[in-house]
Amino acid sequence: MSLPNRIRLAALAAVLGAVLGAATQAAAVPPPPEPLSTEDDHAWMMRQLGIESLRRGADGNPDSPHAANYLESKANARMATLPDPLVFDDGTRVRNAADWWERRRPEIAAHFESEIYGRVPELPTVQWQVTDKTIETIGGVETETRTLVGRVSNPLPPNTRVDIELTLSRPTGATGNVPVIMELGFDAEFLARLRERFTEEQLAAFRGDGPPWNEQVLARGWAAATLVATSIQADHGAGLYEGIIGIGTGGGSRAPEDWGALRAWAWGASRVVDYLETAEGFDAARVAVEGHSRYGKAMLVAMAFEPRLAAAFISSSGEGGAKPWRRHYGEQVGNIASSSLYHWMAGNFLKYAGPLDVDDLPVDQHMLIALCAPRPVFISSGTDGDQWTDPKGMFLATAHASPVYELLGARGLGTMEYPDVGHGLLDGDLAWRQHDLGHTPAPNWPYFLDFVERHFDKDEQTP
Ligand code: GCU
Repeated sequence: MSLPNRIRLAALAAVLGAVLGAATQAAAVPPPPEPLSTEDDHAWMMRQLGIESLRRGADGNPDSPHAANYLESKANARMATLPDPLVFDDGTRVRNAADWWERRRPEIAAHFESEIYGRVPELPTVQWQVTDKTIETIGGVETETRTLVGRVSNPLPPNTRVDIELTLSRPTGATGNVPVIMELGFDAEFLARLRERFTEEQLAAFRGDGPPWNEQVLARGWAAATLVATSIQADHGAGLYEGIIGIGTGGGSRAPEDWGALRAWAWGASRVVDYLETAEGFDAARVAVEGHSRYGKAMLVAMAFEPRLAAAFISSSGEGGAKPWRRHYGEQVGNIASSSLYHWMAGNFLKYAGPLDVDDLPVDQHMLIALCAPRPVFISSGTDGDQWTDPKGMFLATAHASPVYELLGARGLGTMEYPDVGHGLLDGDLAWRQHDLGHTPAPNWPYFLDFVERHFDKDEQTP
């Protein structure tokens, strides 16, 4: 175990005695790593930060006294404090693209790392292996599907291993290196639970009328990939002691600036690009990512921090994704800082639901979108049943990211006016469309694929 981890564990043992009511051991030798439960890990992070209590989030139940706000008239009081992406922390203005690339972009990225999503530690390399290859017909297209495992072996105790799961399908008739559209998706167990929980009718509503997304991708002659998020990092606080985050901490607890699950899932997308750079038949310079809801948040983080990703489709990402923290509408900072979701974030983020508030954040989410500039990003939302994600807030964040795109010679949204449902703003490098279904990406898939195809064609024509 590395020295910082030993120190952390010794401190943890001492504090936990008090937190959990167990006998405190004044041990000269640090105890073996003892992973905490979600609640205890959350409490331990609060202790590390000296936070006694957190503000509660909004309640999805409309009859609750803490019900989420859905009134536009009450949503914007704090939007006045939205930081300007083109003004340095010291108050001076970004004058040109060089200012952006050399100083302002790194300044913004550092804030997101330290306060919101956390830093990526040194990690062992990932060894990709193709474990299976099948030829199948998907939506009428003969396709070769590879099953891959990205093995991460941890040389340190405890000997956790991470096997990243990826499937990669490519039309057998395709020639040359094809673009890849990659979804951050669910594991088989979760999908089985969904099938048990929802009726076929509800699932059909989620899928929409069109063919599944992978069929739409393959029909264009492109490759479709699915990366299983939870094979990289479990989706709960107790899981932080394992998975790729556990490998980074040597099985100990996180320090406040260490990464959370969103950044870890995003890291997984980068490792897939590493693989595609070495594999034949795929164009690693034309990889687009898609994610919905929590996975939409993660793929926006991926797009912001991984310059090799060419485009992104960010669906219903809401709080922690494309929605400004400063919008008082739908989900709030207290929800994400709670013990059920805090593991998505760096520990430091908890401060903003405790002693600090959203106006104290040095950045807001329009600046995460701005970190993607000038690459094409499509921000998507639903309507009824998707208000928790704050569609208008996500539109506003996209609009407020536009000046950075324009500074870099790309096209932003071109308007601050919130368009009608179904009226897409799709001609620029930043795109927005709100479909008329609920919490699902399905109706926007064809619009995204047309959008990204235009960009990929343009790239091919640029010498
Ligand atoms: C919860 C959470 C959201 C998240 C969503 C999901 O509703 O509050 O932030 O996007 O789960 O991922 O399905």
